[in-house]
Amino acid sequence: MEHETLKEQWSEVEDRDGIRLSWNTFPSSRMEANRLVVPIGALYTPLKEKPDTPLLQYEPLTCKQPCRAVLNPFATVDTRAKLWICPFCLSRNTLPSHYKDITQDAIPPELHPQSTTIEYRLARPAPSPPIFLYVVDTCQEEDSLKALKDSLVMSLSLLPPAALVGLITYGTMAQVHELGYGECAKSYVFRGSKDYAAKQVQEMLGLTSSGGRPNVPQQPGRTPASMGPAARFLLPVQQCEFHLTNALEQLQRDPWPVANDKRSLRCTGVALSVAIGLMETSFLNAGGRIMLFAGGPATEGPGLVVGPELREPIRSHHDIDRDNIKYYKKALKFYDNLAKRTAHNGHIVDIFAGCLDQVGLLEMKGLPNSTGGHMILTDSFTSSQFRQSFVRVFDKDTNDNLIMGFNASLEVLTTKELKITGLIGHAVSLNKKSGSVGETECGIGNTCSWKMCGIDPTASFGVYFEIASQGAPSQHQQGPQKGMLQFLTYYQHSSGQFHLRVTTVARNLSGPTGDPAIAQSFDQEAAAVLMSRIAVFRAEVDDGPDVLRWVDRMLIRLCSRFAEYRKDDPSSFRLEKNFTLYPQFMFHLRRSQFLQVFNNSPDETAFYRHVLNHEYVGDSLVMIQPTLDSYTFEQDGGVPVLLDSASIQPTHILLLDTFFQILIFHGETMAEWRKAGYQEQEGYENFKAILDQPREDARELVQDRFPLPRFIICDANGSQARFLLSKLNPSTTHTTSTYGGTSRSAQTIFTDDVSLQTFMDHLMKLAVSGTS
Ligand SMILES: *[C@@H]1O[C@H](CO)[C@@H](O)[C@H](O)[C@H]1NC(C)=O
Ligand SMILES: *[C@@H]1O[C@H](CO)[C@@H](O)[C@H](O)[C@H]1NC(C)=O
Ligand SMILES: *[C@@H]1O[C@H](CO)[C@@H](O)[C@H](O)[C@H]1NC(C)=O
Ligand SMILES: *[C@@H]1O[C@H](CO)[C@@H](O)[C@H](O)[C@H]1NC(C)=O
Ligand SMILES: *[C@@H]1O[C@H](CO)[C@@H](O)[C@H](O)[C@H]1NC(C)=O
Ligand SMILES: [Zn+2]
Repeated sequence: MEHETLKEQWSEVEDRDGIRLSWNTFPSSRMEANRLVVPIGALYTPLKEKPDTPLLQYEPLTCKQPCRAVLNPFATVDTRAKLWICPFCLSRNTLPSHYKDITQDAIPPELHPQSTTIEYRLARPAPSPPIFLYVVDTCQEEDSLKALKDSLVMSLSLLPPAALVGLITYGTMAQVHELGYGECAKSYVFRGSKDYAAKQVQEMLGLTSSGGRPNVPQQPGRTPASMGPAARFLLPVQQCEFHLTNALEQLQRDPWPVANDKRSLRCTGVALSVAIGLMETSFLNAGGRIMLFAGGPATEGPGLVVGPELREPIRSHHDIDRDNIKYYKKALKFYDNLAKRTAHNGHIVDIFAGCLDQVGLLEMKGLPNSTGGHMILTDSFTSSQFRQSFVRVFDKDTNDNLIMGFNASLEVLTTKELKITGLIGHAVSLNKKSGSVGETECGIGNTCSWKMCGIDPTASFGVYFEIASQGAPSQHQQGPQKGMLQFLTYYQHSSGQFHLRVTTVARNLSGPTGDPAIAQSFDQEAAAVLMSRIAVFRAEVDDGPDVLRWVDRMLIRLCSRFAEYRKDDPSSFRLEKNFTLYPQFMFHLRRSQFLQVFNNSPDETAFYRHVLNHEYVGDSLVMIQPTLDSYTFEQDGGVPVLLDSASIQPTHILLLDTFFQILIFHGETMAEWRKAGYQEQEGYENFKAILDQPREDARELVQDRFPLPRFIICDANGSQARFLLSKLNPSTTHTTSTYGGTSRSAQTIFTDDVSLQTFMDHLMKLAVSGTS
């Protein structure tokens, strides 16, 4: 509930600029910054929907080289002298002649005080309409392949008519379907066991002759003859819908026989490398998605993740821990190389897995990670989880444009006090140096610019900063100085033009050492999410226990710094107001699937971490610390309750939202009555209403959730209840209470991990001892 009021405070800034900062007053010295423990960071959502902002139809005015900051509300404009002073470098720039009519009362939209975020539609047209290349695994059961084919056929109607589409299928071999070929089906076949070089792919597809001409601007309605030989494989939907629908409908299961003790031969690696090669030759830096639909793991050729023998199990976290893995490193290297190429080409790779077992997301994760692609993990292509998540990829805005950006890049500018240390999110470095780049590195660093390729309205990036080492702020200025950041996001809009989104933020710099304004400006929710991203980033390279120790150390240091206490007296410990929820966030983060991997498969871990690295603050917090609501006769509707085992009561129904799962849990009595069917009987309307309420609320929760969560309905003592128990604070473990202490009706959790209370006791003891 405290949660809610905080959210409201931030929602205004977040709504306007799509940004949350860990500290909203910047420390003015490097020493002060280091003492804050939590780095200065921003979680930025560049494509956040802003229905009320005008789209400016002209080129932005920029400061002179090398600054290139875009004109913004913080610039000083001298209307008489016809010039503006850049707040980033303090250069004077003359206003061009078409700004000559500016007066005090008539200023262009980009100078309005509310225009801290603004978007330009640039004159530069996209080189081609958006491209969608489907890469389809045919080693599947009939029903699952049928369901996938239906979804794919249906998706054609969701694409803009001019969008280019193509189809690659794979099993033992990979086939590129020639859609431009009139009468009968025709395709080019690649051997599944062979590692084709980029050049061989081009030659085999006949793409080398004239090469593509990606720089010819696209003319609406024109057939893409100008796109060279690739036009045989990637055609406008409006032109090839009939052929492609036929090709999809006639897709058969991979014809190669599979022995009982074998897995299907699946050359996922070859299929991806052919797809990437096809797009690379003809559509370099043109917006496009390669969408992989994997029904199982790669078992053949480059990138295989498990051998075809069924008795050979696919790697687990334990195998990786013990370095007992046959294919892992080689596969990882193979896909990471493909990922680098794809990101460089400006394309996106999405992976949709429809399989109860692992498909190798762990090995392939670099592809969506480096290109802003989606990773969707479902049990089967027949599941509504797949179908509905897939449809949501093609969501449109009110102008009927797909709400996804292509070939996106982000550049960050800072005023001289602040320096960039890095970015954590789905992107790669563009290796651009500038005066804004700092000395230390956090995430993808040593650059002020990153390439994201794919962005969507929730895609969020953690950007981290440090305070420049030299130079205290000048003392003579009136009032506090401001530190400023500008975020420039270039992307290909699905309408076919390039856009530039500009967000400029200014925050007070703190006064002399110990300014209380800094502590009061702490956004503990944003901070928790920014720290989680760092922890997960570290977990990719460091050992699990090391990462947990790092999380603990940072938390203890933060508490030592921002609590009041008498040394060595834990009972005197009081956290400052703006910090009170932060330790709980860290408690839940430590226990979460992001850092505790052994209850999940490596693919699941890759999936969870991928989604965390994509979301904005609110949704990320739900993943870190799920929400729990309780329903019972005494109250109307759900009431938020503690994420604690004591919240389990016989006459309550609980609704748990972990972002990935929505779970409804019936307490013992509720479960018995439900089993007895009271809800159907007259006189029990009340009971029926209570049963229905959490279901309705759950529907509300998933309304715009992506990917669609897994739905679980379970009863006390049921086996599925473990999903709930694993998320609850074990306040009533067998070690802390049996029949004496807390309520006996509360369900007992048998677990070795400590309760929040024990955790907090420990934390207070360590924080007041000042040993860390
Ligand atoms: C795609 O983005 C890159 C920067 O990452 C840019 O150089 C290129 O011009 C963009 N593509 C097109 C067609 O403009
Ligand atoms: C994602 O890519 C970046 C570099 O581009 C890398 O540092 C990071 O470890 C990758 N994350 C995962 C989960 O693979
Ligand atoms: C920034 O400083 C000004 C001037 O001292 C003050 O009025 C304002 O409240 C400060 N803003 C914040 C958010 O602290
Ligand atoms: C921090 O606490 C102060 C004082 O209680 C409050 O005025 C301020 O809004 C809080 N700041 C944040 C960022 O929550
Ligand atoms: C659940 O388990 C408890 C004890 O373990 C038992 O007393 C109770 O009858 C069980 N309830 C159901 C609905 O099975
Ligand atoms: Zn400038």
